[in-house]
Amino acid sequence: MSATPDLRAPPASLAAALDEIAAGADERDARPSYPGDAFERLAAAGALALNLPAHDAEDQRPSFAEELATVRAVARADGSVGRIYDGHVNAVERLALLAPEPLRAGELARVAAGELTLGVWGADPVPAEGEPARLDRSGERLHGVKVFCSGAGGVDRALVNVRRIGAVHAVANTAALLLYVGSLRARRRGRHGRGVALGLMGVGALAAGGHLGGHLSYDKGVGVNQTFDALPEESTSTVPEDEVREGEATRASAGDVAILLSRHEGRVYALADRCTHRGGSLADGPLADGCVTCPLHGSIFRLADGAVVRGPAGAPEPAFAVRIEDGTVDVRAVA
Ligand code: FES
Repeated sequence: MSATPDLRAPPASLAAALDEIAAGADERDARPSYPGDAFERLAAAGALALNLPAHDAEDQRPSFAEELATVRAVARADGSVGRIYDGHVNAVERLALLAPEPLRAGELARVAAGELTLGVWGADPVPAEGEPARLDRSGERLHGVKVFCSGAGGVDRALVNVRRIGAVHAVANTAALLLYVGSLRARRRGRHGRGVALGLMGVGALAAGGHLGGHLSYDKGVGVNQTFDALPEESTSTVPEDEVREGEATRASAGDVAILLSRHEGRVYALADRCTHRGGSLADGPLADGCVTCPLHGSIFRLADGAVVRGPAGAPEPAFAVRIEDGTVDVRAVA
């Protein structure tokens, strides 16, 4: 077997690249299209190769915290670019873990050379949104509901998530429930042997559903709340009230916790800044209609109470009670 080549190029000139990307953000906003110029800069800075796998024990790939810091830095320079870049980093991770050889090595080598920008697209809607996407018989077309597809028309490869494990998990749990109901009925009718058999099948279905649920939660992080900060229970001063303007995000801190302050229809609201989905900074996201959109994967949270208006986040954003005291915004965690 041949030795794995060194695929990782350090993003040495990333700061300069981010300055250039930030300088072009307004122009990109004015003419929305795929930000190819920004990705050429990121490629030249080696940032597309940020999280390629280590090639030996000496080679340290960045920690998750360092990866997240880089994604946040790109999102701060330009939110749209950050969102697509986050998809690229996510896709590289999945490619490295899951793709079969020789596809894996070939694609990672092209990522290392800055030739490929990847994306992860979601086609796993919640039930009310319609049918999840499925491949048609040709194996070339997807039909169904998409959830997000950042970088459409620009990325070179898109890894499309379809709800398979989640659906099987739900089916297994439903089957367990039905088997237990069947078992109960059989026992009530005096058919003890049949009741035991159905009960045992129910245990099997429950175990399978639990295993898949654990895989979704612990391996894939589905629905896991990523905020671990201890929120201030006492009223804590943040910033002068006049720094919080209508429809704008103000980044502040309450004790050790980063928060987002904003005013909607004259009233000041406060949410934790770290997105419950994957830790994106909400203060970098756009505000509209009393909601904030996370710049990384587009989760939408209501300012008033942190409720998830739209996923992929599964957990609400911690919201704070707000009081204006002597012209200062004071916040405390809602009990
Ligand atoms: S980090 Fe994924 S939606 Fe916020």
